[in-house]
Amino acid sequence: MKNKELIRIGNNTSPVFVSEIPDKHFKRLWQLHVGSHTNTTVVVLADKQVYDLHQSWIESFTSRLNITVANTQLLVAGEKIKQLAVAETIINEWIALSIPKNAIILCIGGGTITDLGGFIASVYKRGLRLINIPTSLMAMTDASIGGKNALNLGTYKNQIGTFHAPLFTFVAPEFLKTLPETEMASGYAEMMKHGLLEGKNFLKKMLNIVPNAAAPSTSLLVDSIRIKIQIVDSDPTEKSKRMFLNLGHTFGHAYEGFFATSGQPITHGCAIAWGLTEILFASESICNLHSKKIKDVAAWLNQHYRFDTIPIWEQLKEYIVSDKKNISSSFRIVLLNELGRPFIQAIDENGLKSIHSLFCNKNGLRNLGINN
Ligand SMILES: NC(=O)c1ccc[n+]([C@@H]2O[C@H](COP(=O)([O-])OP(=O)(O)OC[C@H]3O[C@@H](n4cnc5c(N)ncnc54)[C@H](O)[C@@H]3O)[C@@H](O)[C@H]2O)c1
Repeated sequence: MKNKELIRIGNNTSPVFVSEIPDKHFKRLWQLHVGSHTNTTVVVLADKQVYDLHQSWIESFTSRLNITVANTQLLVAGEKIKQLAVAETIINEWIALSIPKNAIILCIGGGTITDLGGFIASVYKRGLRLINIPTSLMAMTDASIGGKNALNLGTYKNQIGTFHAPLFTFVAPEFLKTLPETEMASGYAEMMKHGLLEGKNFLKKMLNIVPNAAAPSTSLLVDSIRIKIQIVDSDPTEKSKRMFLNLGHTFGHAYEGFFATSGQPITHGCAIAWGLTEILFASESICNLHSKKIKDVAAWLNQHYRFDTIPIWEQLKEYIVSDKKNISSSFRIVLLNELGRPFIQAIDENGLKSIHSLFCNKNGLRNLGINN
C-alpha cells in the first residue's frame, strides 16, 4: 500500500476508510453511504479538546455536506462521560429539540466519545444512524470500529452496552498530530494486542515500535485496523472469535477501575499493557507457551508501560468479579496456545488469583513495590 490517499477496510456493512486527504474524501463517502439529498439532520458529539484544536479543519470537510447540524455536544473526554446520566442528559436535550429518528450522529473524538455516542445512537428512538470520526490512536485502531459500545457503572468498566455498527468509520491520521504522547502510547498497547492475536509480521513490526509521540505509519495503522475488522466480521456479536479481542482485558479493566477509584487514573492502554503481560505469563505457565518472542513482547510491554505499584489480588478482586466476561461462577479469559493462536479458557476465582500471584512474583519484573 503505497501513496494511496484513501484506503477502504472491511465489508459493506460497516467499512473503515483511512484518508490522508479528508476534505477530498469525506463528502464522497457521505454521499455514498448517506445519499446526496439535502438537509439531513445531524447531531454532533465531539471531544471538546479535539474540536477546539481542529475546528476549522473539521468544518472544512463537514461544511461541504448538505446537512443541518441541529445540535453540537462538546464534551470533556474521559471515563466520566461513559455514564448513563450523561447519555440521559443528551437524550433529553435531543428530545426537547425534536431530533428525528432519521438523524445521523456524527462522533468525533477518542474511544470514550465513540463509546458514548455509539450507545446513544443505538437507544435514541431505537436507533439512529452513526458515523465515527476517531481522533485518538486507540479509537482509530480499536474503539470506533466494530459497532460495540459500552458505558461504565461508577468505576466498574463497560457494564452496559449494545452493538450498533456505524454506517462507516472515517480515520484521518492528521488528527494524531495533536495527540499527547501518553495517549499515543495508550493506542500502541491495543495495537500490540492485535500483534499478539496475529502473531506474525505485524507483531514483528510492533516490536520495533517505540510507543512515544510519533504516530504510526499509515500502513501500520491500516494493518492494525484490518486485524480487528477480520475478527469482528467473523463474529459481529461476540459469540466466539470476537472474544479474542478481550485478550488482557480481564486484568486490564481491573487495573483501570482500581486506579480510577484510587484517584490516580491510568490510560486504558496502559492498563491493557499490564493485562497483556499478565496473560503472557499465564499462557507460559498454563499452556507451556515458550518462545523467545513472548519474552520480547513481555520485555517491550514492561519497558514502555511502567506502573509504580501493582495492586494485590484483594484490591483487584472486586473489579474482576464485576467484569462483563463472567458466566455464572466461572470467568472466561483469553490465553495463547501460541502467538497468533488464542483460545478461551474457563477459570475460577482461585485460578485468577494464582495467575496474579505468578505475575507479581515473576522473575525479571523490576521492583514494583509488590505487597502480596
Ligand atoms: N468499544 C470498543 O470496542 C472499545 C475498544 C477499545 C477501547 N474502548 C474504550 O475506549 C476508551 C479509551 O479510548 P481513548 O484512549 O481514545 O480515550 P479518550 O476518549 O478519553 O481520549 C483520550 C484523551 O485523548 C484526547 N484526544 C483524543 N484525540 C485527540 C487528538 N486528536 N488531539 C488531542 N487530544 C486528543 C482526549 O481529549 C482525551 O483526553 C475506553 O473507555 C475504552 O474502554 C472501546
